[in-house]
Formats: sequence, C-alpha cells, structure tokens
Amino acid sequence: MPDKTQLEGEVYHPSAEVVAQAHIKDWEAIAEHARNDLQGFWAECADELEWYQKWDKVLDDSNKPFFKWFVGGKVNIVHNCIDRHLKTWRKNKLALIWESEDGKEHRTFSYYAMNREVTRMANIIKSMGVQKGDRVTIYLPRIPEIVFAMLACAKIGAVHSVVFAGFSTDALQGRIEDSQSRLVITCDGSFVNGKVIELKRTVDEALKRCPSVENVIVIKRVGHDVPVDPLRDHWYHALSALPVANGKCPTEMMDAEDPLYILYTSGSTGKPKAILHTHGGYMVGTYATLKYVFDLKDDDRWWCAADPGWVTGHSYIVYGPMLNGATSFMFEGGPAYPYPNRWWQCVERYGITVFYTAPTAIRGLMRFGEAWPNKHDLSSLRLLGTVGEPINPEAWRWYHRVIGKSRCPIMDTWWQTETGMFMITPTPVVALKPGSGTRPFFGQEAEVVNENGDPVPDGEEGYLVLKHPWPAMLRTIYGDPDRYVKQYWSKYPGRYLTGDSAKRDKDGYFWIIGRVDDVINVSGHRLGTAEIESALVSHPAVAEAAAIGLPHEIKGTGIHCFCLLRAGHAPSESLAEELRQHVAQHISPIARPETVKFVDKLPKTRSGKIMRRVLKARALGMPEGDISTLEE
Ligand code: PRX
Repeated sequence: MPDKTQLEGEVYHPSAEVVAQAHIKDWEAIAEHARNDLQGFWAECADELEWYQKWDKVLDDSNKPFFKWFVGGKVNIVHNCIDRHLKTWRKNKLALIWESEDGKEHRTFSYYAMNREVTRMANIIKSMGVQKGDRVTIYLPRIPEIVFAMLACAKIGAVHSVVFAGFSTDALQGRIEDSQSRLVITCDGSFVNGKVIELKRTVDEALKRCPSVENVIVIKRVGHDVPVDPLRDHWYHALSALPVANGKCPTEMMDAEDPLYILYTSGSTGKPKAILHTHGGYMVGTYATLKYVFDLKDDDRWWCAADPGWVTGHSYIVYGPMLNGATSFMFEGGPAYPYPNRWWQCVERYGITVFYTAPTAIRGLMRFGEAWPNKHDLSSLRLLGTVGEPINPEAWRWYHRVIGKSRCPIMDTWWQTETGMFMITPTPVVALKPGSGTRPFFGQEAEVVNENGDPVPDGEEGYLVLKHPWPAMLRTIYGDPDRYVKQYWSKYPGRYLTGDSAKRDKDGYFWIIGRVDDVINVSGHRLGTAEIESALVSHPAVAEAAAIGLPHEIKGTGIHCFCLLRAGHAPSESLAEELRQHVAQHISPIARPETVKFVDKLPKTRSGKIMRRVLKARALGMPEGDISTLEE
C-alpha cells in the first residue's frame, strides 16, 4: 500500500480505534499471501466453514472459462448458515430481527427458530414433489418468509430463482418460463408506502402463460381476498399445520459445484440472463468478503437495506450474514415512509452497528435535510457501506458526516450479480477516497484496458476487466453456456469483462464510471435497453423504440425513450404518458421512463442497429463521435 502521506486527493484515514478492532491486522500481508498463493488463501477461508467431505482440488481451471472451485468437496450452504450454529451457543443467538413497514409488527428468530422455520418450509416444498435440481420461483417482498423460502430450497438441493417483488407480470412470466420452475412461492400482497400491491394477482396473470408450474404456495401477508385455484394454489398457513410439514428434514449433501440459485439480470442484448451460482464457492466467497469488509463480529447488528430479490440481498441479507453467524435486521418498508427518518429510527431502535445501502437512497434522503437523522441516536453505528452505482463525493461526504458522524468508514463495494461477492472494495483498515471503491479484494487484480486489451495509463478511462477467477464467480448462464463465454470471456480471452468503464489513479485506486454496454443503471437496478424497447413496441401505437440513460439527480441515471409511431397514431402528451405507464406495467415501476419523445427516424447503422450513443450525445448536446457507420 502506498505510504499514507503520499496518497493523492481527498483522503480519509481510518481511526486507530477502527484499525485496532478490525479482523484484518495487516492488509498488505494478506494481499501478498493471496497474490502468491490464490488457492491457499481461499482454502484457508473455506477451512473456517464445515464440509461433509473436504475438496480434492481448490480450483480446477482445466476447462476455462468454466472454472470449478473446491472440486470433490461435499457441502450444503445451509449446513453452514444454520446447522453448524445449532451445535454452539449461537443456537440461541438472534439470526433475524424484522420490522413491518408500519412499525407495528416485530418478529425475531434465533438460529434455533430459523432452523424450525426453514425445516418446515423445506418439508412443504418437498411435499409438492420438488426434487434436487428442480427450480422454484420465489416472488415475495421483504418479509422473513423470503429468507425461509430461499434457505428451504437450498436445504433440499432445489435451485431458487427469486424474482424481485417489484417486477410486473411480463418480467415474472419470462423468468418463470425460462427457469421452467415447477413451484412458485408468493404471498397475497405486499405493503409499499402504505398501499397494497397485489402480488398474487400478478402471479395468476403470469401463470396463464407458464405451463411448467404445478403448484403455488401462498403466504398470507396483507389479508386481502385473492382468487385461489383449488388444484394449484395452497395457503402456507394451512400447509404448515399438516403433519408432513412438521417432521425433521435432513440437509441434502451437495457437491460443491451443484447449483444453489439462478438470478436474472439484464444484459446488453435480448432477454435477461440467468446467472448461476453454486453451493461451495459462493459460500466461501460471501462468507469471507462479509467477514473482512464489514468486519462482522458476534456482537454486531448488521443491516443490509437492499431487497432479497437482488443479488445484494442474496449474498448479504441471506447467505453471508448467516454464514458468519451474525444478527441481521430486515425492514419491510422503504427509507422515507411515512417520514424520512424511518431508517434512522430503526438504526436507533435496534442498535444497528453496520449499515449498508445504495447511493440513490442516500441522495434521496439528503434532500430532506439533516434534521431527520439528527432526531435519532446513531451512535451504535461503526461501519457504513454502499453498493449498486458510483457514489458522488457529495453524497459520500454527507453519509460520512451526518450518518457516520465522521467516525464510520464507508465501504464502497463494487461488484455484480455475476461476481456474487465484493470484488473492488475497501476494508476498514484502508484509507478511503470519496467515490472510489479503492482496490480489488484479496486474490483479485483488476485492469483498465483499451479496445485492444492493453492497459491504459493511470488516470485514463477504459474497460474494467478482472484477471483471476474467484470462488463466488458465476459458473455459467443457465441454459446458455455459449452466451456465458461470449458475454464475459471473449472480448479479452483469459480476462473477465465486467461491462463497466473505470479509471485507476496513480495510487492504484479504482474509480468506476458506469456501464459501457446497453445496460441502464437506475437507482442501482440494472435494466437492459432491449427490455425497455421491447415493452414499448408491444404497445399497438409503437413501431420502433430506443431507450437511453441520462444523468438523474436522485436515481443516478434516468430512462429516456424515443418512439417512432405506427401509421394512424399521432404524437400527444397523453400517449407519452400512456407509454411510460405501459413500460412500468410490463417490466416494473423502476423501469418507468422519465420521458418518451416521438421521432420520425432513429439513428441506425447501415446494418440496422440503433445507435443509442448518438441519441445520447444529441440529448446531452455533446459531439456525436464516430458516425461513419450512421445510415442517415
Ligand atoms: O455498473 C456497476 C454497478 O452495478 C453493476 C452491477 O449491477 P448488479 O449486477 O445489479 O449488482 C448490483 C449490486 C452488486 C456494476 O456493473 N455497481 C455496483 N456496485 C457499484 C457499482 N458502480 C459503482 N460503484 C459501486 N460500488
């Protein structure tokens, strides 16, 4: 690490107190060890967990880029999330604390209780005929049952496919269809800012086009009347009372490389891709990163304010914390309902020590001023984190000063659905620069390269690539291994293409700039231009459409669309509004465009590809760059 005094720019050094209690005593020594002995480093992390049978080989790279980790090892991630803790004092430790959106309900689960809930759910899933390797779609809001459902699938070796409950019918249907799930787990509805969202009705609509689904388990959350198909739908509380639900359920012994879950994410072209993660490597990666980066200890109260429906929730609400035997807090609601102090009230009420959220939320809360957080005692906090998009230095400083009282280091963790775990990230012992994720995690090296794959000089922008395999890496795109190779490993063979652009400064710190493919990052959520465009052209008035991302004060990036209308349809304000609504209904309210503009022509290459970069340059009043391929 460069000498403290030599770092360039605005630098925040960790306090002696933070350094003294960190798991990492000597960052440079661990980094050096992992550099020299990648497999040794990861084997030591894996050794801190329990295996039914130890691996023969840490890393098998004989069939690149289809890497395998802990080959020959037998394990189940649930054994390490739950079973292992039941043999120790941690069986009485709280695994999960939950509060409802309206603040009137509180539920807590010890590791012992967690085992009971997960076992019950696992028995029920099994009784529906679900077997090892079968896919189960989970469509639930932030309630404890989403955690039970994920762990229950993993326990019996089924592969979960969680679909964020903010997604609408088409998005849900496409994901169920692609995964060929036999079972869907949902609830009657969810609470969002005091309103009820009818999840079960969305499922009913989606299932009209999903013949693979045999059964639907419905959890009662909001108490609304919902249609029940007597042959297909089953109330969870009714099933729970049956004897079959209440016996023991052994945790299935899995190969380290057996699939744990798939999670859909947007790519540059076509439909969302099913990213596949496995039991062994993913377990080791999420365990070790959470331990080192957020420095979790037994007396911590960890709050990852993401949704379990995204990878952040998978890795750092569900699996990572439980692998570490931590106490997690989960909140059903959002940060500003009914008032913008809602999160800070929870921090105070539950004595949260480590808090992890997204820059968009911080920017949103900043707008309401300091008085809201200042109403609360936030002195329990010792570490903060962000994820999902670049954090602007102004938001970083606000978070640091107003929430962390200038005491709490901020872990700006860069990673992806595909990476499964933090990849470029600070740890509590390194000096921070607002807006930089600092350097790669142990065992990783990143590079910023030009079109030809040559490293660019420090300070210049280029494509961000990763040089080494890591245990929580995606193994493939489920059902489409060719796309896996093409998407991530073909542009620069031997190196993983992240899809992001970045700069490295002369201290070796990385600064993520943003996506360089046709992915728009709205409030930390990935949306493909192709998905938005295909939703638009599914409307009878639209012949062709293009979507681009433009800077947005709170969301980071907002979606802006250009539509060419079919004959017989005229541009109007009301049609623009209807189209915005149409996209929200088909994909998700997150995908609602900021603007829809009507055009006579879209800039295209001679081969017919829409040149979104030209639209973007025009919208920003910037030079259009190389337009030699433009057909106009
Ligand atoms: O562009 C990067 C951005 O989010 C993308 C990954 O999105 P997703 O797979 O949905 O996972 C989000 C949560 C892990 C990345 O390619 N991104 C994520 N974290 C950061 C970030 N950009 C800048 N800084 C970050 N800390």
